[in-house]
Amino acid sequence: MIDRERINFLKQNGYHKYPMTMQMEITRECPFNCPQCYKIELGTMHMDFNLLKKMITDGIRNGVSLFVLNGGEPLLYPHFIDALKLFKGVDNVSINCFSSGYGLTDEIIEAIKETTQLRFYISLNGSTDEVNSTSRQGYNVSINAIEKLKAHDCPFGVNWVARKDNVHDFENMIKFCRDNKVMQFSVTSNKLAEKKSKICQPIDDGDIKHIARLIKENPDVNITSESCFPQLTAEFRKLTEYDGCAAGYSNVNISIDGEFLPCTHLYYPEKFDSLEEYWEKSEVLKRLRSCGRCTNCNKNCRHCKAMSVESYNNFGEGIVSCREATEEFKEGEAS
Ligand SMILES: C[S@@+](CC[C@H](N)C(=O)[O-])C[C@H]1O[C@@H](n2cnc3c(N)ncnc32)[C@H](O)[C@@H]1O
Ligand code: SF4
Ligand code: SF4
Repeated sequence: MIDRERINFLKQNGYHKYPMTMQMEITRECPFNCPQCYKIELGTMHMDFNLLKKMITDGIRNGVSLFVLNGGEPLLYPHFIDALKLFKGVDNVSINCFSSGYGLTDEIIEAIKETTQLRFYISLNGSTDEVNSTSRQGYNVSINAIEKLKAHDCPFGVNWVARKDNVHDFENMIKFCRDNKVMQFSVTSNKLAEKKSKICQPIDDGDIKHIARLIKENPDVNITSESCFPQLTAEFRKLTEYDGCAAGYSNVNISIDGEFLPCTHLYYPEKFDSLEEYWEKSEVLKRLRSCGRCTNCNKNCRHCKAMSVESYNNFGEGIVSCREATEEFKEGEAS
């Protein structure tokens, strides 16, 4: 629940007084090396549990509504179950956790079931190993994890990154989610990979329309478009001033060693004594808040700054792959 003071601050300043979404890099450990992975550093480090506890406790007190437990592979965090226990009895929060499924034990499944605020997703970019493996490793691990979750009647979602090399498989993924009674099928946008140097397999406007059409044609499957994908949201409704990139507006990311970033995909780490100080004083956040919207077409997206190298290095630049493909832009250029 957002209180009046928060609403007034948001109206006056255009961003939240304190982040509403807190992403936390709880571990860098991961057995995989996925071609798509955006993480700058994987390794063996874990977040100190006292730091995690402090961030979560402060976040709950300050009205954070969504916590994201991110990795590496979150299930390999030695205090994963203890982290979930921190939310016991806490109302009005949601927790998201994305996982390859590696390290999923019966004990963890029970903890997931007990944590009613948690939406636990298995990441899968293809309905077959062949499609999945162009961007992700560990297909069999993820499929086995799904079987295990089903056997324990544990609700789970599937997280799918939309790419040129898997968009043809989207219909099969919908069928997979239907057949496996997936609680939520989350469609997410493709961000920079390979240490932020490259966008691999970018989709175009035609692909977005194809995804939107299939979502509309399959209302029995709970398919959602992540907030960081305004180009897809715009296929369903007119975007509002609050849609789109939340970095610096309502989203913050805390790295494994307590540094602050605007988003897990925006590697601009900064050290501050507190989150409040970072939120108020960071020059990176000031730049993000003043960069405006993408004018490549008429969707008016507060676009993702990690969806192209150009926008990553210059927050005000729109999405180049969009611009190249958007019919409106092409028409504009020709005239
Ligand atoms: C960094 S992973 C960490 C959690 C776990 N290791 C996993 O893969 O699910 C978090 C999510 O980011 C997604 N991801 C990785 N690289 C991406 C990229 N370049 N663009 C968009 N999403 C990406 C993964 O598919 C996964 O759903
Ligand atoms: S996407 Fe997830 S599973 Fe793949 S390498 Fe990155 S952290 Fe590991
Ligand atoms: S930079 Fe991209 S991924 Fe990060 S909050 Fe903004 S839209 Fe989402």
